[in-house]
Amino acid sequence: MPINGSTTTPTAAVEVPRGLAGVVVTETRLGDVRGYEGFYHYRQYSAVELAQTRSFEDVWHLMFHGELPDAGQRSAFAARTARLRRLPDEVLAALPAIARAGALSGPLSGLRTALSLFGAAKGFRPVYDIDEDRRREDALAASAVVPTLLTALYRLGQGLDPVEPREDLSYAANYLYMLTGSEPDPARARAIEQYLISTIDHGFNASTFTARVITSTGADVAACLVGAVGALSGPLHGGAPSRALDTLDAIGTPDRIDGWIRERVLAGDRIMGFGHPVYRTEDPRSRMLRGIAQQFGGGLVEFAVEVERQVEAILAELKPGRELHTNVEFYAGVVMELCGLPREMFTPTFAAARAVGWGANILEQAQDSKIIRPAARYVGAAAPVPVPALG
Ligand SMILES: CC(C)(COP(=O)(O)OP(=O)(O)OC[C@H]1O[C@@H](n2cnc3c(N)ncnc32)[C@H](O)[C@@H]1OP(=O)(O)O)[C@@H](O)C(=O)NCCC(=O)NCCS
Repeated sequence: MPINGSTTTPTAAVEVPRGLAGVVVTETRLGDVRGYEGFYHYRQYSAVELAQTRSFEDVWHLMFHGELPDAGQRSAFAARTARLRRLPDEVLAALPAIARAGALSGPLSGLRTALSLFGAAKGFRPVYDIDEDRRREDALAASAVVPTLLTALYRLGQGLDPVEPREDLSYAANYLYMLTGSEPDPARARAIEQYLISTIDHGFNASTFTARVITSTGADVAACLVGAVGALSGPLHGGAPSRALDTLDAIGTPDRIDGWIRERVLAGDRIMGFGHPVYRTEDPRSRMLRGIAQQFGGGLVEFAVEVERQVEAILAELKPGRELHTNVEFYAGVVMELCGLPREMFTPTFAAARAVGWGANILEQAQDSKIIRPAARYVGAAAPVPVPALG
């Protein structure tokens, strides 16, 4: 029997904006994004300040345990996560086949498969059936192994052997080491570490929401992460950094910026690396990454700064009142290029950092027993009509 006037669901139907924009669906202690201020934070700290002053492991600890580590916790947590980098034998053995099958689609789609296998190999159980400590162990194990899976899949795709993780290197340095096979220069490792910290979490974005929806069903941690990776892979979410750099390549020279951008915008295309669903001012991640890029300097950085200046002016003219600025992806692409990351690893690198944020969100969501189950307005043919007889 319908109640509260709704004819489709047993509770009152509530109209919300398209894309759920601005709809508050839960509470979180993990952080927030203030779109009009150009500010975001992890727990009580500015995320940009954390990126400028702390290690990736420190911020991981903050997200998973609710506080920044003291000196003892710091080394214990770093050692613990470093030990978790190694892959189970059965997963390592399957990676060449996953890489071969995904030769055309790249390491991120391989990660979906490999993470799923990892959860099965580790015997992950539904978060519904395990206590908080066990969930944290699963989330820690899964997020620690993502860089190993991604770099191994990338190298196999290139016809190279995977490089075993090293426990004596930091998360970021080990990531670059596993990718290239040689120890990275400290400035580049630190630049990538700052990028990784700055992308750990960012409000209720599509992949985080996806992870939380799956968690709300009580599924295991790997299932939640696999869904989140799928959501992140879309070009409107995490798939933009290599496309932003492709745009710089396509423009080519400063004299072509104006004509190239105008033509695309007037044709209704979106310029990759610009615009954001929440920020109505400069993206603070973009500001930080531009600073990092400028410390390295060089032609690419100067060109990117000029493209940013002109695109912002053109978008302000052609899309008045929309406040379209560079988002994280624009300078992320530039920084990753400067640090020697291949383009097909840009979005996977984003995924590695975000796996920590998803893990923290999974842990938080698992404490809430309510399943996330919204409704849709049915707009199809009037029902019911009799099912046509066969023949
Ligand atoms: C990020 C993004 C999906 C946000 O989308 P959104 O919040 O839905 O923004 P809207 O669709 O409301 O855009 C508002 C207007 O600005 C335009 N716009 C938004 N981003 C634009 C861009 N990058 N280039 C050109 N125009 C853009 C839209 O076409 C729209 O114009 P309209 O009102 O005339 O239709 C969007 O800005 C985009 O596609 N950017 C490029 C991809 C990208 O960089 N993704 C990484 C995100 S971190």
